[in-house]
Amino acid sequence: MIEAVNLKKEFRVNEPGEGTFGALKALFSTRKRIIRAVDGVSFAIKRGEFVGYVGENGAGKSTTIKILTGILVPSSGSARVNGIIPYEDRRRNAANIGVVFGQRTQLWWDLPVRESFEMLKAIYRIKPDDFAHMMKKLSSVLDLGPMMIIPVRKLSLGQRMKCDLAASLLHRPGVLFLDEPTIGLDVLAKENIRTFLGEINATEGTTIILTTHDMNDIERLCGRLIMLDRGRVIYDGLTNELKQRFAREKLFEVEFRVRPPSLADVPELEVVEERGSKLSLRFRDGAGGDLAAVIGKLAAKYDVKDVSVREPSVESIVRSIYEKTLSLPPYRADG
Ligand SMILES: Nc1ncnc2c1ncn2[C@@H]1O[C@H](COP(=O)(O)OP(=O)(O)OP(=O)(O)O)[C@@H](O)[C@H]1O
Ligand SMILES: [Mg+2]
Repeated sequence: MIEAVNLKKEFRVNEPGEGTFGALKALFSTRKRIIRAVDGVSFAIKRGEFVGYVGENGAGKSTTIKILTGILVPSSGSARVNGIIPYEDRRRNAANIGVVFGQRTQLWWDLPVRESFEMLKAIYRIKPDDFAHMMKKLSSVLDLGPMMIIPVRKLSLGQRMKCDLAASLLHRPGVLFLDEPTIGLDVLAKENIRTFLGEINATEGTTIILTTHDMNDIERLCGRLIMLDRGRVIYDGLTNELKQRFAREKLFEVEFRVRPPSLADVPELEVVEERGSKLSLRFRDGAGGDLAAVIGKLAAKYDVKDVSVREPSVESIVRSIYEKTLSLPPYRADG
């Protein structure tokens, strides 16, 4: 459905001059610096997959999305979406895809929402029946009713995002590209949008690529995770597999009847957090040993009331990878 083969995108930027008016000098500078925003990215995504595309600021996520939606032409490599080369056939590609850039609306700023939707109906040549069907469905799940007569520029961020999502789906695209659709939203609005996206993926079979900095989005929605670091893929696999790979990062919640002054007898574990008689513990870096054995040891040495084991969150794993306290084995795309 979506295929990227050794995609690269370089930007040439003027080297900034030094000192006062440095930025101004840059305008006339002949010295160029090359930024490799996307540096050999390959992946293949099947119909109906829900893929999280993550990485730190500047990793190259938006640049990839822009190539796949036909906004940017890659410097080398190739991409196909539903058999179409997006940057060569942008119009035909647009008929099959929906796009939301959370940072920027795709709607007409001064038009009421309803009229924006009518414009899209005309642009995509959506049949009246199909349009009515989708409008009904989208309005009910996204609760668009109260927004329909309001000009886009007057919508709140969360309202605007809902309208942008609806707009991207009116023509029932097979593929949906979402670049930070939950940015800036409150907890409840995020949750509503997640539920909605899950439903669209399940009921319409829409293939979704989601870029986000919110790992709860990933945890809730994305079976698969592709992680970028400075333009390169460093992980591509099941979200659960990433969790299992770092199962050693598992956190234990231990409640003591009598809180010991230290855990010197179980040096494998370190304290992450303390809350009265409850401690959050995890394996110390480099410590071996298996879960059952270490819990047995803990219970033998101290007066333990209760132990529970928590899966590490995707959030904590990803943060650790960014902070380089966890490292992934070198990634090689097969094939
Ligand atoms: N039009 C452009 N001209 C020059 N450099 C650019 C351009 N667009 C992107 N870049 C650079 O390419 C790199 C990747 O940018 P990109 O927007 O793809 O990152 P991102 O992963 O989406 O980051 P964020 O999480 O902050 O949105 C950055 O270093 C950025 O400054
Ligand atoms: Mg971005």
